[in-house]
Amino acid sequence: MKTCIISGASRGIGRAIAIQLSERDDIQNLVLLARDEIELNETKRLMNPDKNIVLYSLDLTEGKQIEEIVKDTGDRYGGVHLLLNVAGYAEPKSLLETTVENWETTYQVNVQSVFLITREVVKWMKKSGGKILNVASTAGMSARPGWLAYASSKAALISMSHTLSDELAEYGIKVYCVSPGRCATDLRRTLAPDEDQSKIMQPEDVAEVVDSLLSNPGLCLDGQNMVIRQQPKFYQNQVELETKEQNESVTA
Ligand SMILES: NC(=O)c1ccc[n+]([C@@H]2O[C@H](COP(=O)([O-])OP(=O)(O)OC[C@H]3O[C@@H](n4cnc5c(N)ncnc54)[C@H](OP(=O)(O)O)[C@@H]3O)[C@@H](O)[C@H]2O)c1
Repeated sequence: MKTCIISGASRGIGRAIAIQLSERDDIQNLVLLARDEIELNETKRLMNPDKNIVLYSLDLTEGKQIEEIVKDTGDRYGGVHLLLNVAGYAEPKSLLETTVENWETTYQVNVQSVFLITREVVKWMKKSGGKILNVASTAGMSARPGWLAYASSKAALISMSHTLSDELAEYGIKVYCVSPGRCATDLRRTLAPDEDQSKIMQPEDVAEVVDSLLSNPGLCLDGQNMVIRQQPKFYQNQVELETKEQNESVTA
């Protein structure tokens, strides 16, 4: 039975992934990380109650507790088999508006915490093999004027994933990187406040892709940065179809 650590599990994509993975037969222990204890508990409430779910409230800008949390998890369950680095921070600013504080927080959450968690987890994972999945962004793959710190931090995460995939292959550890496009979450609202979130990809769509990546042991996609994107027209059509169905059921 596998043990899985997920950062950023209090909301958005991380919550959707935690819920989805809790339904899998091969995962019994799920360790969820984020700052907001109330929202972490809400994620737990939405998960399969038959699983062991452990919550840790921690601030990834500090990183002090990471070593202890991973050690406790490894000791309690005999290993760590899956790591999902989902937590992310965005404060979109242009070069001249970017403060050192913004730059540091962005890199601490989006890059440094991934380095720290991964380093501790690999101490366990190298005994059994495992899978690590990093959530980067399409913002790390091309220019995003006005999002300097966020976009460059995601580019760094994509690069880290490539290197770690090569470096950790000898231990039977596969490293995946996914780069979602626009997805309906709080973080996306910070980046695009005026967007209608009912017309873009939902966190559950990303969770489904992540679940299938982690499902197949032979999948030859490790080391790749995979874009997860839904065409806007798909959602428009879906909303129109649902509205039509509702109208028909009312008149029927
Ligand atoms: N939404 C999109 O359009 C989109 C597109 C591409 C990539 N992504 C990436 O997807 C990932 C998930 O983001 P999301 O869109 O689901 O956003 P979200 O709903 O805002 O969730 C962000 C998560 O990161 C955690 N987090 C942020 N700062 C933290 C800190 N200092 N310490 C601990 N945890 C922290 C938050 O938990 P607490 O606040 O409780 O600490 C929360 O669980 C991120 O890496 C993001 O960059 C999102």
